[in-house]
Amino acid sequence: MRILVTGGAGFIGSHLCSRLLRENHEVTIVDNFDPYYDPGRKKKQLELVKRAGNFQFIQADLMDKQACRKVFQTKRFDVVIHLAALPGVAYSVKEPLAYVHYDIEMTINVLKCAGETGVSHVIFSSSSSVYGNKADKPLAEDMVDGKVVSPYAASKYGAESFCHSFQHLYGFQLSILRFFTVYGPWARPDMAIPKFAERLSKGLPIEIYGSGTSRDYTYIDDIVDGVHAVLNTNHENETFNIGYGEPISMERLLDNFRKFYPDMEVIQKPWRTGDVVSTWADIAKAETRLGYKSKVSIKDGIEKVVRWIGSCSD
Ligand SMILES: NC(=O)c1ccc[n+]([C@@H]2O[C@H](COP(=O)([O-])OP(=O)(O)OC[C@H]3O[C@@H](n4cnc5c(N)ncnc54)[C@H](O)[C@@H]3O)[C@@H](O)[C@H]2O)c1
Repeated sequence: MRILVTGGAGFIGSHLCSRLLRENHEVTIVDNFDPYYDPGRKKKQLELVKRAGNFQFIQADLMDKQACRKVFQTKRFDVVIHLAALPGVAYSVKEPLAYVHYDIEMTINVLKCAGETGVSHVIFSSSSSVYGNKADKPLAEDMVDGKVVSPYAASKYGAESFCHSFQHLYGFQLSILRFFTVYGPWARPDMAIPKFAERLSKGLPIEIYGSGTSRDYTYIDDIVDGVHAVLNTNHENETFNIGYGEPISMERLLDNFRKFYPDMEVIQKPWRTGDVVSTWADIAKAETRLGYKSKVSIKDGIEKVVRWIGSCSD
């Protein structure tokens, strides 16, 4: 398949593109090396993707309508996997308007170009944050009500709505994937697991916010499996949770790190506004409809991350 991956130099995108190339898809990556975190790191990630095969790379800002149009003129894509976004809940509290530009306007540009150029399948990366603060039970896909608690979540919720409307206008196949807290080698440096691993490997203390929190932490290989499964499925317009399927408390997460760093120092900080208390993915729909199965436990995943951090400092 001819696949366009937006944000392909990022964390999830670089892992996904490596898998697509190994499976001989014709991959085009578009990314603007956004400075939300070190663009040098994104360039390194792209270098790693090159080991999996050749791809076309276009450096472009998809918030720019003309630039977006030009990308879609380079060839006729069968599938667009739209990962490019401004991520980060905490930053969205500081800069809410930026999320309207990156996560809503950019998504509209991509959807419009995909529709106008006859793309058959659009896959949109949404987030567990669209469920808001209600995860004392597994979150099933139909449990969203728009009552989100951060501007990031509001922008993803809004972008999902635009996906539905453009699916209706242009008739392409639409898959909305709601990813649950993704981690693994090269994970975004603003997220808890990579931040903890980096600091602990240097003997530095780590900070945790609030208490009683838990997350459905999902290893990157499981996320890539989820996207891969949806690529090969036929439906008109569906939304799937892609998560591990189990909430892990902060205490349990820290215990997993403590095995490697027994003297680690943890600093308790006040609650951060915009954060949800807990997330817990109901993955039954992805299991039945996509044949998706999450595989990497938190214990194995943290071990992989710790090994990776160690190999970076060797
Ligand atoms: N990592 C997670 O835990 C997680 C969870 C839920 C949803 N998601 C979503 O998955 C997607 C990928 O997340 P990630 O963690 O890989 O983030 P990332 O920041 O590593 O990747 C996003 C990429 O998009 C690119 N980008 C940003 N703005 C752009 C623009 N205007 N034009 C072109 N490229 C642009 C960035 O340079 C970056 O390489 C995002 O949509 C994110 O919201 C991630």
